[in-house]
Amino acid sequence: KNIAIIMGGYSSEYEISLKSGQVVFETLNPERYAAFRIHIFKNKWVYVDTENNEFPIDRNDFSVTIGTKKINFDCVFNAIHGTPGEDGFMQGYLDLLNIPHTSCGMYQAALTFNKRDCLSTLKPYGIKTAASYYINQGDLVDEDNIVSKVGLPCFVKANRAGSSFGVTKVYKKEDIKQALDIAFKEDDEVIIESFLDGTEVSVGVITYKGEVKALPITEIVSNNDFFDYKAKYLGESQEITPARLTREQEEKVNKVAKQVYEVLRMKGFSRSEYIFKDGEPHLLEVNTVPGLTKASILPQQAAAAGISLSELFENAIEEALV
Ligand code: DAL
Ligand code: MG
Repeated sequence: KNIAIIMGGYSSEYEISLKSGQVVFETLNPERYAAFRIHIFKNKWVYVDTENNEFPIDRNDFSVTIGTKKINFDCVFNAIHGTPGEDGFMQGYLDLLNIPHTSCGMYQAALTFNKRDCLSTLKPYGIKTAASYYINQGDLVDEDNIVSKVGLPCFVKANRAGSSFGVTKVYKKEDIKQALDIAFKEDDEVIIESFLDGTEVSVGVITYKGEVKALPITEIVSNNDFFDYKAKYLGESQEITPARLTREQEEKVNKVAKQVYEVLRMKGFSRSEYIFKDGEPHLLEVNTVPGLTKASILPQQAAAAGISLSELFENAIEEALV
């Protein structure tokens, strides 16, 4: 089977995505799959061969022609974090072309990538979240009102971004403006949330051999003030799998993570983040194209569940082809 591994993307996360995609490429068993690395950048969509030659993708049918041979793909392995891989664009495009892909549907991707709308959708299901305040670029900034709604410290976040790009923890009212400027570099919508002081955990949920399965929970202990970019990617954190939770906490967070997956009718990968406050998991966000490098959280969780990287990736492809 021909598998297109799409990677790169148009957001600040493109470098992480190239790493995730490369891991998928190196992991897929060549006896079972013919894997093709496809770079998706704003200025070019290209197949990149092992000698780094580039061949343009025909966007009419997502094929590539090498010499006289036209290659169509049986499945797309989506390793693009951020736009256009995690926010519904690629999903919608591939669905229109009837090309199976490893990620969730277009609507699920668009909804979950929008932190504001995802949290608002899930709240009526009884899922707890931080107190929040929403603001768009150009809106009047009323710091007193913000502080009265979310308190201090608070988190200022780009609404549609990942890997902590555009996120600042703010301690003083006077620092809100600058944090907004940072967030508005990533997105023209911003979400401001109260700081929840508690244990942070991350839960992968996948469809594995036809069943929705929550993977072992990871506890995140950042060496930095929060789980920022450096903590995520430069080793400035400890990620402990399984998390040091009580049985009751574990059951609660697994239940919520599966509920999120089922309520939203998700497919493929998901990894949602929570903070325990007053004994209850509070949802921060849902990622539908989680990092897939060896150091990334979801692969660590799969390993803890006895699922190797190659099993994890093959399962994603086989589920997509069902
Ligand atoms: N957005 C990064 C890649 C993650 O969720 O792992
Ligand atoms: Mg994220």
